[in-house]
Amino acid sequence: MTSKQKILEIMEQKRDDYISGQYIAKKLEVSRAAVWKNINLLKEDGYKIESKTNKGYRLVKDNDILSEVGIKNSLKDEYKNTKILVLDRVDSTNNYAKKYAVDTKENLIVLANEQTAGRGRRGRSFASPEKGIYMSMVLRPQIDLKEVYFSTILTVVAVHRALSKFTDERILVKWVNDLYIGKRKICGILTELVSNLETMDVEFLVLGIGINVNSDIKDYPDELSEKVGIFKSKGLNRNQLIAHIANEVFALFKNYDKALILEEYKSLQLLFGKMINFEQNGLSKTALAVDITENGELVVMEKGEKIILNSGDVSVKLGE
Ligand code: BTN
Repeated sequence: MTSKQKILEIMEQKRDDYISGQYIAKKLEVSRAAVWKNINLLKEDGYKIESKTNKGYRLVKDNDILSEVGIKNSLKDEYKNTKILVLDRVDSTNNYAKKYAVDTKENLIVLANEQTAGRGRRGRSFASPEKGIYMSMVLRPQIDLKEVYFSTILTVVAVHRALSKFTDERILVKWVNDLYIGKRKICGILTELVSNLETMDVEFLVLGIGINVNSDIKDYPDELSEKVGIFKSKGLNRNQLIAHIANEVFALFKNYDKALILEEYKSLQLLFGKMINFEQNGLSKTALAVDITENGELVVMEKGEKIILNSGDVSVKLGE
């Protein structure tokens, strides 16, 4: 870690306090001039730092720059050795994570401030303007290939838990893996898998999480202006939110309790009780969404007949 990163780490750990140059110099075994030089380097990176005579330096509260030390500061101790890569701009954090993970055995989190070719489900694109959360977690759980679908459900529940702690608004899940506030989507999740087809083992999962935070509706293409919602967290910056999400995901995989997770997932469904539109065998149909099976499929009722939808697109008219 460079002196600059160490100083940032100290300031992240004591966000509310001024820290004297003398304290930092002693801790890092460098001169006070070196501390001052590194504080200026941090300011050049965009950090807002207050300095007060006789008191020292303090990070201004609204700093929202992605950093490994900022994230690790809010990660639970048991997960602190996770490799974290912070990029300014990338095509897709999922693409980057997949390439990187092939040559390692460790868990990994890749983040970017902006994606130029963010990917959504079913080959769609995911609008990823600057200052959002674009996060890909690479995990290597010992699970069977047929359990992989459940990782998406688990991730939805984990992200829901983390975000719900920091808003008073009700967040709901639109099957399969979109999070909504009201009629607007605030988060999408894309789970990908790298497996060994000879042994049928799961090598690793890439859990791609995209959350619209900070951005302005103007940052999105016009056609999304009625659909995109911006998550406003109560007082947390992106580093803290990311760490909370990662803590929840890791914890749910560690205490893997399918029944409990499925129950929670069901309790969050936006579509239940609503008439939804979908296509089946080339026909457009409308039916009432009523349940989720233990395999994560959506159960709908059409004229007294039960239909099970296991993937695909369903559309619904959402009220205000
Ligand atoms: C969807 O809404 O269909 C899923 C969107 C998933 C977006 C995230 S952002 C981080 C990761 N990188 C990507 O290219 N996609 C996922």
